[in-house]
Amino acid sequence: MIIGVPKEIKNNENRVALTPAGTQELVKRGHQVFVQATAGEGSGFLDEDYVESGAQILPDIQSTYAKAEMIMKVKEPIEEEYELIKEDQLVFTYFHFAAYEGLTKAMIKNKSICLAYETVEKTDKSLPLLVPMSEVAGRMSIQEGAKYLEKPLKGRGILLGGVPGVRPAKVMIMGGGVVGTNAAKMAAGMGADVTIMDVNLQRLRYLDDVMPANVNTFMSNEYNIREMLHRVDLIIGAVLIPGGKAPHLITRDMLKEMRPGTVLVDVAVDQGGCIETCKPTTHEDPTYIIDDVVHYCVANMPGAVPYTSTLALTNATLPYAIQLANKGWVKACQENRELALGLNVIKGDVVYDAVAEAYDLEHVPFEKYLGDVWGKLKD
Ligand SMILES: NC(=O)c1ccc[n+]([C@@H]2O[C@H](COP(=O)([O-])OP(=O)(O)OC[C@H]3O[C@@H](n4cnc5c(N)ncnc54)[C@H](O)[C@@H]3O)[C@@H](O)[C@H]2O)c1
Repeated sequence: MIIGVPKEIKNNENRVALTPAGTQELVKRGHQVFVQATAGEGSGFLDEDYVESGAQILPDIQSTYAKAEMIMKVKEPIEEEYELIKEDQLVFTYFHFAAYEGLTKAMIKNKSICLAYETVEKTDKSLPLLVPMSEVAGRMSIQEGAKYLEKPLKGRGILLGGVPGVRPAKVMIMGGGVVGTNAAKMAAGMGADVTIMDVNLQRLRYLDDVMPANVNTFMSNEYNIREMLHRVDLIIGAVLIPGGKAPHLITRDMLKEMRPGTVLVDVAVDQGGCIETCKPTTHEDPTYIIDDVVHYCVANMPGAVPYTSTLALTNATLPYAIQLANKGWVKACQENRELALGLNVIKGDVVYDAVAEAYDLEHVPFEKYLGDVWGKLKD
C-alpha cells in the first residue's frame, strides 16, 4: 500500500503520525511510505531519519495527499486539508466528528474512508488509541501543578514533596481512571500526600490495592469534596462520563473555601471541565486566576511534549496501521472488530451511529461494506 504522512498544520501541533521506526516496519512488509518534508521535525525526527528507514520525502502537503492510498495523521483535518482528501482514500487519524460539523460534511462529500482513532474500541470497551494521551496528560498534570504552586507563578509557594521536617503538599485527584491513576503515580513518586476520588467503588478498591502508602482513596461526592477543599494545595480534574459533558464537581462558590494560591489543573477541560470556572486555555497562556485560585485548563496538554506523545501514540496506532496496509481496510476491519469500530464515514455514508445522531443524518450499517462478517463479530 502507498502510505502518506503529511505534516500537521493545526496550530501548535508538533506530533507526527509515524516515526522512523514505524516507517521501517511498514517498508519491510513491502509498503511504500511517503513523508512530507519536515513532518517529524517537531517531534525530533529529521527527514534523513525517515529516508534511512526507507521512506521517500515529498516537498509539500499537496503531493503527499495526492500520492497516498492511506493517509496517517494525528489531528482532525482542518479546512485547508478537506479538498486534498480524495475519493476512496483511507484516512486514519483523530477526527472527533461529533465536535466538528463542517469536517463531517466535508468527509461525506469527498467520499473518503474515515477511520477514527478515538472510536477504535476493545471488547472491554476501552479505547486503545485514546489511552496513551490520557497517560501523558495525567503524568503532566502533576508536573504542571507542581510548577504553578511556586510563588512567582502565583501558587501557594509549597514544594510538592516537602523536605525532612516539613510536610509535603496535599493533592486531590477527582477521577481515578487513566488520567487520575497516572497523576496519582507521579504525585506519590514526588512524595506528596495524595487523595484520589471516584464514584466507582470497584475502582477505588483496585487503586487502594496497587497504589503506594501515600495515596488514599475517598468516595467522590459533594460532601467529601467540600471537606477536602480548605486543606488541599493542588486539585486535578480527571473525570469522564463517556459520551457526555463532565459534571461540575467544583462549583464557583467553592473557590472561596480554598486557600489563596491553590492550583486547579482541569484535565477534563476537553469535555467541558469538572470545575465550573474552567475555560480552555493554551500552552502560550495556560493559566488564569479567579478568587486567588490558579486555574490551568490546557485542552491539548500532550502537545507540549510532542516527542513523548508521538512515541506513545504511534506505539498504539502502528499495529492497526500495519493491519490496514497489509490487508486493505475492508479485510482488516472484517477480521478485527476493534478496528471496524473506528470506521465513521465510508464513501459518503455515516456508519458510526453517534455521528449520524449528532447531525440528524442517516446511519448506514457497516454491513453495506463489510458484509455479514460484521454482524457475526458484533455478537
Ligand atoms: N486536556 C488534555 O490534554 C487531555 C488529554 C487526555 C485526556 N483528557 C481528558 O481527561 C478526562 C479523563 O480521561 P480518562 O482517560 O482518565 O477517563 P477514564 O474513563 O479512564 O476515567 C474517568 C474516571 O472518572 C470517574 N468518574 C465519573 N464520575 C465521577 C465523579 N462524579 N467523581 C469522581 N470520579 C468520577 C470514572 O469512574 C472513571 O474512573 C477526559 O475528559 C479526557 O477527555 C484531556
